[in-house]
Amino acid sequence: MIIIRTVSELEGYVSRERNNGRSIGLVPTMGALHAGHLSLVEKAVKENDDVIVSVFVNPTQFNNPDDLASYPRTEEDDCRLLAKAGVSVAFVPAVEEMYPAGAKREKEFELGTAAEVMEGKFRPGHFQGVAQIVSRLFELCRPNRAYFGEKDFQQIAVIRNMVKSEGIDVDIIACPIKRADDGLALSSRNALLTPEQRAIAPEIHKALVDGVEYSKTHSVKETHDMVVDSINSHEGLDTEYFEIVDARTLLPVEEWSESPEVVGCITVFCGKVRLIDNIKFR
Ligand code: PAJ
Repeated sequence: MIIIRTVSELEGYVSRERNNGRSIGLVPTMGALHAGHLSLVEKAVKENDDVIVSVFVNPTQFNNPDDLASYPRTEEDDCRLLAKAGVSVAFVPAVEEMYPAGAKREKEFELGTAAEVMEGKFRPGHFQGVAQIVSRLFELCRPNRAYFGEKDFQQIAVIRNMVKSEGIDVDIIACPIKRADDGLALSSRNALLTPEQRAIAPEIHKALVDGVEYSKTHSVKETHDMVVDSINSHEGLDTEYFEIVDARTLLPVEEWSESPEVVGCITVFCGKVRLIDNIKFR
């Protein structure tokens, strides 16, 4: 595996591989890699001749400076894991390399209503920052396929909209959520939890699973309230939002019959750590 830190070296690498007719898979990450990230990497390694994994904590998608400052950074471990997984290139740029004119947003992407609800509402500008960095990575890596996790269910929908509105030729591959044995969705932010917080965090997934069972005999609203009450009854857990939405539009449903695919998306504060998860209802 080679570690590339500059845009020009990356462009040189991509041109050579493309000229040799090799397919490229891209896995964008912000590092602090765990088995969730590695499941995307593994799939990418199987399906492409070359795999580029970017490790870059993108400042323009953080709307909270404390969140950006406390985001875990474990570059050495990340590169070791990626080399072991059979990745061709770890692209690990500095902020100045990705944003030579300063880390700010330069244009407004058309991301549709999927970007306005849930994370879009609670983290204003977040998806514009995601679109900015992901579109730049697509431009530099020219991947045939790019891999994203369903843990960030809304992010995939927004990236699909971005790819469409920007006219980018890439297959977006959605990969299932990886969980710890106790059900907690793996996340880089889990590293920030105290042992006490880590012990109660699995209640989020438990409530979602109970919610799916409950939904078989209860309305959308009853199910929503049961899940939120159940999570908030644990000291240290505080639900920011729980929305039961159409999996394609991400707009809320009021009846289970409204859509063939319904997903519940949730964000919960565990102390100061913001955890997100989701579950399929239908
Ligand atoms: P990050 O949070 O590092 O996640 C990188 C990719 O790993 C995302 O596609 C995310 O959905 C996936 N992922 C994270 N945890 C997962 C889990 N438990 N199971 C399956 N997949 C999981 O998402 C981002 O970074 C950034 O927004 C990024 C797309 C890199 C743009 O900066």
